[in-house]
Amino acid sequence: MNEKKVAGERAAHLVQDGMVVGLGTGSTVHYTILELASMVKDGLSITGIPTSKQTELLAREHGIPLVTLGEVEKIDLTIDGADELDGQLTLIKGGGGALLREKMIAYHSKKMIVVADSNKLVRQLGAFPLPVEVVPFGYQKTMDALTRLGCRTKLRTNGEEIFITDNENMIVDCSFDSIPSPPKLHEWLNAIPGVVENGLFIGMAEQAFIGRDGGVTVIE
Ligand code: A5P
Repeated sequence: MNEKKVAGERAAHLVQDGMVVGLGTGSTVHYTILELASMVKDGLSITGIPTSKQTELLAREHGIPLVTLGEVEKIDLTIDGADELDGQLTLIKGGGGALLREKMIAYHSKKMIVVADSNKLVRQLGAFPLPVEVVPFGYQKTMDALTRLGCRTKLRTNGEEIFITDNENMIVDCSFDSIPSPPKLHEWLNAIPGVVENGLFIGMAEQAFIGRDGGVTVIE
């Protein structure tokens, strides 16, 4: 069974007529977007807010009406993927490099729901390297400061090129191996000048739809 597909499609059915919907990024929410597109074709009226240029293209191509974050008063529901999540619904995000827009859109949403395959659910976060978005200016020094927090750092690349985010920044992937206290790490990371945002999402997701062999498990 395709766990991403069952989780992604199931979450789409939480969307109701008239909602403003935050559209996440990645291969799981891809299925949510396709399902929403087919619901729109069947008459559902929604407005989508994409969390990345990649999602914007996909949603446009499939006929979902879109606006930008600044144009709406409030987002009713955001559905997004995760690279790791624990039982408290703390997330690591940013594997696709979209963490800043994803976090802004989640923050301004009444509700955020995560869609993921069962491999993403962990006891303690940190096996997945934590993505940190940094400004290009002096990024080598920002990486030194990140290393001093006790991780191995790697500047993300795309082939031979440095990976550049939708916001013209860079991503440093930080391997901590385990993150015993996400709130403390979140605070330390964002206190470093040059760090724009990090991929820890704490207290943002209300529910997670986890694809499993037999269907979908809901965590809340
Ligand atoms: C994008 O930057 C990420 O936060 C994605 O939401 C995350 O990587 C989940 O992606 P998949 O659904 O492709 O695993």
